[in-house]
Amino acid sequence: MPLARLLTAGALSVFAALSSAGAADFTFVADQAPSEGRVVLYVGAQGALSPLGQAIDETTGGRLSWAMEVTGFSGAFGETLALPAVAPFRNVVLIGAGDEALSARQLHDLGGHAAMAEDDDEGLSLIVDGLESAVDAAGAHVAFGYALGDYHFTAYLTQNPPPAGGEVRIVGAGHDHARVYQSDLAHLAGAITLTRDLGTEPGNTLWPQRFVERVEAAFEGVDNVRITVLDADDIRARGMGALMGVGQGSIHDPRLMIVEYRGGERGAAPIALVGKGVTFDTGGISIKDSQGMWYMKSDMSGAAAVAGAVLAAALRGEAINVVGLMPLAENMPSQDAIRPGDVLRSMSGRTVEVLNTDAEGRLLLLDAVHYAQVEYAPRMLVNIATLTGSAARATGDEYAVVITREMDLSLEMMEIGARAGEDVWPLPLHPNHFTQIESRIADIQNIGGDPGASIGAAVVATFIAEDLPWVHLDIAGVDWRDAPTPTAPIGHAGWGVRFMDALLREEAGAAQ
Ligand code: BES
Ligand code: MN
Ligand code: ZN
Repeated sequence: MPLARLLTAGALSVFAALSSAGAADFTFVADQAPSEGRVVLYVGAQGALSPLGQAIDETTGGRLSWAMEVTGFSGAFGETLALPAVAPFRNVVLIGAGDEALSARQLHDLGGHAAMAEDDDEGLSLIVDGLESAVDAAGAHVAFGYALGDYHFTAYLTQNPPPAGGEVRIVGAGHDHARVYQSDLAHLAGAITLTRDLGTEPGNTLWPQRFVERVEAAFEGVDNVRITVLDADDIRARGMGALMGVGQGSIHDPRLMIVEYRGGERGAAPIALVGKGVTFDTGGISIKDSQGMWYMKSDMSGAAAVAGAVLAAALRGEAINVVGLMPLAENMPSQDAIRPGDVLRSMSGRTVEVLNTDAEGRLLLLDAVHYAQVEYAPRMLVNIATLTGSAARATGDEYAVVITREMDLSLEMMEIGARAGEDVWPLPLHPNHFTQIESRIADIQNIGGDPGASIGAAVVATFIAEDLPWVHLDIAGVDWRDAPTPTAPIGHAGWGVRFMDALLREEAGAAQ
């Protein structure tokens, strides 16, 4: 078909969708092939071009087909070929989509590959008409992946900041794609941006009260949300000596921030999400080595992910009740700090001997999970934390560690993670782990003989009712990336928002 016909054929309808995430704004266009600017074209196996792809190839006088032939571009999933200055386009990037029906996760990755290949959004069109997928509104999922891959933290760049975001056109996607993006995935992308922003913010600009203010601002005007913030006096008054202990060495007091979202049945028990919020972890008196200590500015990744997951659910109006609890503290060495050997009294009444002040995450979590059970009687509790270096060593960048009391629950979590694009792998919880945390002078101690992820989980598990479905996520290895993935640039990954989001969708679906 001659290009002129293609350009004017069809509805020419343009559906705008403002993204609250990243820098790009997305416009969804049914079938209008671009004739200039920057183009990302998804190509099937063996270089198969979609109808719009063929039109674009013709516009270039067949140079795209020629380039594929010359370079041996096969169209394998994720294969990328950048072709600058193929007139009349500024830049054309070919990205392989393979020959299998694409899952949502793969669509996200394809969007992310585009963001990684093209760092200038100005005049950019993503041509998605050739993507084969059973997923509803595939173009919306590509846009979502692009938004994630396009993340930049620019707050402190005063010289040469990356190009400001422009309008990105998703071509070959009708207004149902725009609707799915606007009403759902844009909120999720925006929530992940919030989580990444919080995780990247340094310790000198983010401490417990600042975290609270940032999250409050993000929830401003969102329906069916109630925020409660306990300050140091409240925390002391409620007897949360473990949370208080972690924060008492800092000039910045601890907080317990709680965000309730009630979108489900009135009175139905909520799902509790509890996230570790250590705004900086020096180790305390058991001080850390200076090597890489700066990473500990993101030791509140769990709390940031909880804020993001609840925000996404609330913005799209998910039919579920959820309560996010974020215990927040800064772990500093000072004359007021807890010492190794100190005994703290938790809200549950149980006492904890602190043999290492660097094992602080489990301390603030144990009070927060107890509080969650007493105040909210949840039907399921998920806690998420950058808890142990051991988890990072065990499963690396590829998986977060999941620990539960029942293997079946861990297997379910593996499925959810695979679907969400955030994988988890189980580690055990054995009676031996509980034996290891028996203390001579208190009810338990905060470390065991080995420094493993399972010991951290055992400390938290001690404060979780045996019959409560409980999921422990140790994200120490995945919250910060030194190498990019398509949907996560180097830096804070915002890990856990997508995972918990998928879990909440599943649980909301099951309740229908
Ligand atoms: N925040 C750290 C865990 C961590 C390590 C997160 C590396 C991200 C990257 C945690 O508070 C910690 O210090 N854990 C100790 C526990 C040990 C003292 C039992 C650890 O894993 O070394
Ligand atoms: Mn620590
Ligand atoms: Zn920590």
